[in-house]
Order: sequence, then structure tokens, then C-alpha cells
Amino acid sequence: MTIDDDSAGVEHLLSRPIRGTMDGEGYGAWRSFTDPDAVPLSFGFPFPDSFPLEDLSEAVETLFTADPDTALQYTGPGYATSLPEIIAGRARERGIDCTSDQVHLTNGATHAIDTVCQAFLDPGDLVVVERPTFMGALRLLRNYAVDIEGIDVDADGLDVDALATTLAERRAAGEALPKLCYTIPNFQNPTGATLAAERRERLVELAVEYDFVVLEDDPYGRLRYDGEEPPSLRTFDPDGRVIRVDTFSKTIAPGVRTGWIIADEPVIEQLRRVDAGGENRFTRGVIAAYCEDGRLETAIEGLCAAYEPRRDRMLAALSEHMPPGTTWSEPSGGFFVWVTFPEGIDTEAMIDDAIAEGVTYLPGSSFYSGDRGRRHARLSFSEADPDAIERGIAALSRAVRAAMDPVEAGE
Ligand SMILES: Cc1ncc(COP(=O)(O)O)c(C=O)c1O
Repeated sequence: MTIDDDSAGVEHLLSRPIRGTMDGEGYGAWRSFTDPDAVPLSFGFPFPDSFPLEDLSEAVETLFTADPDTALQYTGPGYATSLPEIIAGRARERGIDCTSDQVHLTNGATHAIDTVCQAFLDPGDLVVVERPTFMGALRLLRNYAVDIEGIDVDADGLDVDALATTLAERRAAGEALPKLCYTIPNFQNPTGATLAAERRERLVELAVEYDFVVLEDDPYGRLRYDGEEPPSLRTFDPDGRVIRVDTFSKTIAPGVRTGWIIADEPVIEQLRRVDAGGENRFTRGVIAAYCEDGRLETAIEGLCAAYEPRRDRMLAALSEHMPPGTTWSEPSGGFFVWVTFPEGIDTEAMIDDAIAEGVTYLPGSSFYSGDRGRRHARLSFSEADPDAIERGIAALSRAVRAAMDPVEAGE
């Protein structure tokens, strides 16, 4: 869409970066990949029975009883003030050196990423992302009119050697160097890959050498079904350049819209200025009350026990049903399996047939900034139950085999 300066309406008054995005799809365009009659493998939605309805109701009661005058006031309930320390304590248990002053609460991880982008990015800056990466972050970055450079992901996460080569080449050619690297080190969205420990250390070394910020987005780290957790990127941080983002969306519920940023205090101070007035103190109080007595930790154990068999069922069903030439990732946690189909399959073109067979997925192209990813799909095992997952994979296999027929016939 081109906007003339004298066009009717107010579009011509929009900021230049936003006007620059108006040709592309808007935030949330992927929400169309859904169908009420199909097995939902598209989205990273927690399964509905996972929501702690009773415990959250109890937490609301606790707030109304303890803080009736302030629970719904601008100041919020007293409980809300304890949430940063609860978060800092949980971070310390994972080896991240952190005080409550280094925690900035947000309305979810997406909001946290946006806040960091607002604070750091100017139009024309270069941002490095994993290729493929979380579609929500890609869409947000477009709002900032930045240049995006994708670095491939393999089974051990971001290919840090490839990043080092790109950085050295850019420096030698006098080209722009990145201001920020956005990474999802644990059970990456969409590939499910986890960044190997030695790559984490190397990535932070590169950030120091080339002077950029590392934005570590970790919504899935606590949902681990096998193996040991590698250290957070922030544990390698010598000078406050790693900014960590996390959320309760996957461990309590997306609807609580509560996430956080962990960074050094000078950074937190600036992020607080960017974020004026958006604090949802009531919900923060509810979460703080809910987290008392170790309820969250018990809930996370229950979530892992529920997601692990879903993942196993999906992997087993892929082995059983998929045609030869199809490969997929085997994540140790999180929500996603990344599938690569045989040559000739186009997952964007196939989606309607897949829905007609009874399954939805997200086409791989959603996770790239250019026209790539059409042989891939992201499958989420978080929402459907294990039997439905099995049916969904069987349906997907029928759609793939039908799409392969004309390929084999040379059409
Ligand atoms: C990597 C990643 N970051 C952020 C988010 C969004 O989290 P929130 O619901 O807290 O905004 C998601 C959700 O799917 C995600 O996969």
C-alpha cells in the first residue's frame, strides 16, 4: 500500500516505520491457520486442562481478603510488590545472579521483547536472528524498520561459527554490525533446538567483541523432559549486555499476560521509562499469591509430566506415518517439532488440504523474514491430547502423500 501525503484519512500521519510495514502482513497474521474441526497442531497453546483455575481463584480471594482497599487501586495489592523477588529467587535457582532490582515486569514476553526493541533500536539498525525464528518477534522487529540478518539453526541451536564468519566478513567489508542478537536458546520456536553450552559462551564472547546486545528469550526453559539444562546466556555475561526475557504464559497461562525482563540495573532503569503506565498490578498480585507455598513448582512438574507423553506420541506417530524423505527435530522440551518434507512439498500450498484431512500446522514460511521455509512446518504438541496428536499426524501424512503424487508424476 502506498500512502500519498494528501490521502484521505490519517494513514499519511503514521510514523515512517509503520508506514513502511503496511505492505506486509500484520501482527498475528498466522492466526488464520486454524479450523474448529481439525486437530490443532498450529499454535503454542497450553492444553486447556493445564490452567490452574482453582488455585488462581484462591489467589484472588487471598488478595481481596488481605488487601481489600488496594487490590484494585492504582497502587495494586501489597502482594504485587513481592513478585520481582519471587522471580529473582527462581532465576537464582537456575544459576542466574539476580536481585529484585534487576527484574522489570511486563505484560508477557512479547511485550518484553517490544520494550527492549523500543529502548535499543533505531531505524536502519541491524538485528541478527535465528533462521528460522519466532514469527511474533519477526513481526515486531519489522515495526522498527531494522535490517534483519538470519543465521541458520542446527540441532545444537544457532550456528555460532556461521555468525562469527558473518560478523568478520561484515567488519572486513565495512558493513553495518548488529546492535542486537535475538535468540531463543531453549527448545527454540520453531525448531525445538537447544543451544549447546559452548555455543552460549562463544555467542556472548562475540557480543563483547562486536559490541552488541544479546536478547535471550526463554519461555520454554522450565519445560524440559530430558537431559540437563545448559546455563543461561546471562551466566556468561561480563558487562550487562545479555538481556533475559521470560513469561508465565507457558507455565501458568497466556491469559495472565505477565512476563519479565532480567538485566543490569542501568538497563532496567531505561526500560522502566519506556514502559510508563502499563503495569497490571492486580494480576501481578494474583500471581505472587499463587506462587506462595511452591504451587508453581508443583504445577511445572505436572506440566512436564503431561507434555512429555504428548511429545513422545508425536515423534512416534511421525515415525509411523510420514513418507520416506521426511525428517523432523527431536526436542528435549518445549512445545515444538520442526518437520522437513520431501522436495516438492509446499506447506503453504498444502495447508487447505491438510485442514480438509483434519489437521492444522504452521507453514515454515511464517518463521523466515524472506521467501523461505516452504518445505517445512512447525507442529505443536502442546494443545491437543495424545490420541488427537496421533490422528493429526496421520491426517498430515495423508495430505503429504496426496501432495507428493503429482510430484512423482512429474507434474
Ligand atoms: C519464543 C517465544 N517468545 C515469546 C512468546 C510469547 O510469549 P507471551 O505470551 O508471554 O507474550 C512465545 C509464544 O509463543 C514464544 O514462543
